[in-house]
Amino acid sequence: MTTLSNARVSELFEQYFDVAPSGCVKAPGRVNLIGEHTDYNGGFVLPAAINYHTYIAFAPRAERQLRVVAHNINQQIAFVDLDAQQAHDQDAPWNNYIRGVVQELRKAGFQLAGGDLYIAGDLQSGAGLSSSASLEMALIRALTSLSGESVEPTQAALIGQAAENHFVGCNCGIMDQLISARGQANAALLIDCQDLGVRTVPVPADWEILIVHSGVKRGLVDSEYNQRRLQCEQVARFFNQSSLRGVSLDQLLAAEQQLDELSFRRARHVLTENQRTLAAADALAAGDLTGLVKVMAESHASMRDDFNITTPAIDALVEILQKAGDGKAGARMTGGGFGGCVVAVAPAAVIAQLMVAVEAQYQQQTGCVPTLIRAIASPGAFS
Ligand code: GLA
Repeated sequence: MTTLSNARVSELFEQYFDVAPSGCVKAPGRVNLIGEHTDYNGGFVLPAAINYHTYIAFAPRAERQLRVVAHNINQQIAFVDLDAQQAHDQDAPWNNYIRGVVQELRKAGFQLAGGDLYIAGDLQSGAGLSSSASLEMALIRALTSLSGESVEPTQAALIGQAAENHFVGCNCGIMDQLISARGQANAALLIDCQDLGVRTVPVPADWEILIVHSGVKRGLVDSEYNQRRLQCEQVARFFNQSSLRGVSLDQLLAAEQQLDELSFRRARHVLTENQRTLAAADALAAGDLTGLVKVMAESHASMRDDFNITTPAIDALVEILQKAGDGKAGARMTGGGFGGCVVAVAPAAVIAQLMVAVEAQYQQQTGCVPTLIRAIASPGAFS
């Protein structure tokens, strides 16, 4: 991945539009350290924003229209009329993020002004690192800057999530948008997705985060994702609760015989994952590597066996990392699942060992080509 900057994207804007932009904003992608498929169940997550971003350089335009260029998609261009009812675009799916954000900003009462936008990113899309959420947060920053409005970070996250839910078609939770908006340098955030309360959890100074893209293209993500969400909601309803957050693990275990096996396993993943996420935040804060390694391993096993969202190549990758780390590296799949990335957390010296092991073994074992990304926990778009 090439690393872009505000200066570089401003230059690209100028090359394209022949004038300098009036501003340039960026919003980061994220890696979730633990707490998977818990956000839409009112549970806990522990993500960090990373040093890869979506950038938008922008300048005002007289018409009440956005003219938007997507650098990463062969400089495709889209026009969005600000006052029109937004319709879904079948031909250029990336366009729906813009239409969705415009619609949701308007719904929330924000003024919008016309502009030229040049979008470029150094986050691989479809990797499970939330390029979508980072696009939404960057758009909200750019559009509110153009119209001179200010938006509070959590509200920005909710608007981005609504755009995705109502316009793009993924019934995602709030994690990705919230961490892209509110991330902190050198820290993960423990987010309580029930009340959106946030605790900053510093990453120990000598530890690093390694992301390995499995090279497995994420398939059927939205349909599988939405199905998992429905399954969890059904169990919550069984207990007369609005979300699984209102159900305790003891209650669930006591009801095992009354639930079908699949629903039971789905809910067990979520409720045990909440406990592991809280334990992981404490372990990270205390520099307790052994504690973190243990809960990350349990989290992966739970995603594999109870939630069924891993793939054989992802499982092999996690195993390579766990073996190479020899008890000194936490490793698990991260993100929605069905391919995408694995995350490892370890002291810097161990990270080097992990990289050597992945290079030597992963492609040979699985036929998939890995991409290694050393990530730095970074500030959010509105931090
Ligand atoms: C995707 C969604 C998030 C979250 C994760 C799984 O990234 O966008 O809201 O549900 O999957 O933890």
